[in-house]
Amino acid sequence: MNGFLRLTAFAVVGLSLCATISGEAVLDRKLMSARTNYLTCDHYASMFDKVTIDSEDNIKCFSLFIEHWGGWEGPSEKAGIVCLKIAEVTNKTCIKFQYRTLNDYIMTRVFAGASANCHEKKEYPFQKAKRVDPEDRVRAKTLIVCLDSFDTPPGPDDTGCCNTEICVAAKLEVGKSGSYPFITDYAFPAKDNKACITNGFFRRCSVELLCSQSCDINTAAFCFAVDISQSLWDPVIGGSDEAFQSEIDFVVMGIEAIETDGGVDLEYGVATFGDDGEVIAGLTTSANASEAVSEITVPTEKFGTNIESALSACETVLNGSPKEFRVLILVTDGVPTVGKTSNADLVAQGDAIKTSGIQIVTIGAGDFIDSVLLNDLSTSGSFISVDSITDFTSALDALLAEVCERSLSVPA
Ligand SMILES: *[C@@H]1O[C@H](CO)[C@@H](O)[C@H](O)[C@H]1NC(C)=O
Ligand SMILES: *[C@@H]1O[C@H](CO)[C@@H](O)[C@H](O)[C@H]1NC(C)=O
Repeated sequence: MNGFLRLTAFAVVGLSLCATISGEAVLDRKLMSARTNYLTCDHYASMFDKVTIDSEDNIKCFSLFIEHWGGWEGPSEKAGIVCLKIAEVTNKTCIKFQYRTLNDYIMTRVFAGASANCHEKKEYPFQKAKRVDPEDRVRAKTLIVCLDSFDTPPGPDDTGCCNTEICVAAKLEVGKSGSYPFITDYAFPAKDNKACITNGFFRRCSVELLCSQSCDINTAAFCFAVDISQSLWDPVIGGSDEAFQSEIDFVVMGIEAIETDGGVDLEYGVATFGDDGEVIAGLTTSANASEAVSEITVPTEKFGTNIESALSACETVLNGSPKEFRVLILVTDGVPTVGKTSNADLVAQGDAIKTSGIQIVTIGAGDFIDSVLLNDLSTSGSFISVDSITDFTSALDALLAEVCERSLSVPA
């Protein structure tokens, strides 16, 4: 009877074990087949000039807690901290795991690991482990895991581990200094930390790996063509003061961001366009151009969208500059309704501008833009798309990236 019961229990356990294994086996097979196009994280990071963890500040810390699971009884206890930083170590881009113990704890073993994904099942998530002698009473230690030590899929945009979450695993084996008998336990990032998951016996945490291109635009001229047509500001046809302001903010922030990112000799012009293009700032400093933009008030006259005139107003401004790198930035929420309205005509006009050496960046917001037209006008063949007309500022990073990329195609 007893034996029978045990057998049944075993069978049930065996069954559920089978179910998990086969589920994971399928997942593993998928991962294995996907792995054929994996490359090291370092491969992706090396395509960028600057790599940081978590934010521009390049530091991410986790408190480490002893949970007393299966070992001692008692509440969880903070025993240490680990701070992560990206650093160059012998020409490689690496993650430094800087461990420190708290209270009376000393470390006896230190572990560090990194991988592309926390959800990927891994038996043992660490690339580095180091034993330290309790006699030495070590309270601080750094382990280094380089980005060439784990693989990553190319991702939807071929930037691999860059500008997405990677997974880090931190673990500390600690003991109480001066205690007898000497007992050790493990400390992990907190259980209630939402960025972390428990995977097997280990806790692993997601952090952003931010990669960016530093671009030195030393000498360049920009002209923003800013749409002031009715659809942006007239509530009767879906506009609002908020939408209008979002566009103004975007242009001001765009000028400031380019100036901050760029070099020493940059100049800016601004034209507005409704029924007609009008230059409101000829080539001038960033401060003067953004002041002119800030002073644009919400129109009261009903304007159409004259893209032809917008393009030629900025072309004239940029033709006044001897600079090699000249960029026309068209910002709009609509389709051409005044002036040339056929795509073919406008694309021909855009092509002539591009042939003269001016690059065009197009930014379109909302539901009424013509993506095909904006793509065709843009030098890169792709416009920067903004979902809502109240959210122009969300295009700021894309604008900087586009300008930066364009600058690399211009001889210095
Ligand atoms: C690092 O790279 C530089 C330039 O490529 C090279 O001169 C130097 O020897 C390298 N250092 C090491 C430790 O590999
Ligand atoms: C910028 O504005 C100031 C104050 O209005 C003016 O004195 C200065 O000449 C302007 N700079 C340029 C380059 O237009």
